[in-house]
Amino acid sequence: MKTKIKQIKNLALKEIGEAKNLTDLECLKVKYLGRKSELTVVLRRLKDLSEDKKKEVGEMANKARKEIEEGIKNQELRIKELEFGDIESREKIDITYPGAKIKKGHLHPLTQVRYEIEDIFKSMGFLVVESREVEDEFHNFDALNIPKNHPARDMWDTFWIKNSKSKIPNLLLQTHTSPMQIRHMEKNKPPFKIIVPGKVFRYEASDATHESNFYQVEGLMVDESGKVTVANFKSVMADFMRSLFKKEVKIRLRPSYFPFVEPGFEIDVSCPYCDGAGCRICKRTGWIEILGAGMVNQKVFASVGFPEDKYEGFAFGFGLDRIAMVKYGIDDIRLFYSGDLRFLEQF
Ligand code: FA5
Repeated sequence: MKTKIKQIKNLALKEIGEAKNLTDLECLKVKYLGRKSELTVVLRRLKDLSEDKKKEVGEMANKARKEIEEGIKNQELRIKELEFGDIESREKIDITYPGAKIKKGHLHPLTQVRYEIEDIFKSMGFLVVESREVEDEFHNFDALNIPKNHPARDMWDTFWIKNSKSKIPNLLLQTHTSPMQIRHMEKNKPPFKIIVPGKVFRYEASDATHESNFYQVEGLMVDESGKVTVANFKSVMADFMRSLFKKEVKIRLRPSYFPFVEPGFEIDVSCPYCDGAGCRICKRTGWIEILGAGMVNQKVFASVGFPEDKYEGFAFGFGLDRIAMVKYGIDDIRLFYSGDLRFLEQF
């Protein structure tokens, strides 16, 4: 047994001395000191020896174990010294070197403008109401005083949804955010003032100022007759434009036609770029057309069951993309949808 212990120790110390890395050393530790190691097996057999022998062999085995442990510890230090001793000269860290910028995304410019617009209207007491993308013919047209076969329907080239399994007839992709006027009034009695940002769809070819899918923001303020006038509308618009463009802008109302308002107007703002002098952005006119608006047609109130002439209010709808174009001086709406990072990273 004593010879065996000696052999194990000698072999262990030899192999330990030859270990080249920490992984090999760990394996040797298990091999010579682990629960299944030869030395442990010898120690287990001690119980079969006489008392005298047990003491003698036991002491020898324990000494061998200690020597092996010591050998492993020393070899570990030697390997570490070899591997990492010169790390300072091999791996220099220049703590004055500027850090690498972490790339992180940000909100799309249209979302940024949308949030800004929402904040401005919220500060004026308006409620933000979500719109839908799929609408029915009644809310998108009929209830807004645009009956079937009426020529005004041509103002909104429509994507109709074919073969829909829905029980609701004649579904379409909303062509404007105005249907939410109807849905809000079906559930709420005046007074109220809301804005409705939403995605809208038109079956038209795209060019520098038109997309087939773009964003609108609808506005609706209604109260008892006599309490909401065109003057209130002008003042809300002037406040809104001033906050958005961060400068004083003039507003111009031109008569226009939308079946759901009477009278109807189109609103121009004096070009915030050239202050009305004429430039590339305003096509040398000094004015930029921003939105359609008007006083809510009594026929629209009737379609949601409001009593005749009891209420009065104004409604407006503008293109969010167009506003963003004016705000940032962008001359092609298609850039917003291009996914071009060179463009998007500027915001
Ligand atoms: C309407 O859609 C009306 N619902 C607006 C309205 C609401 C009028 C409430 C009165 C009362 P219009 O089709 O003009 O109107 O569109 C409104 C705005 O959307 C336009 O002034 C323009 O800024 C934007 N717009 C219209 N078509 C496109 C398009 N193809 N691409 C990008 N923006 C567009």
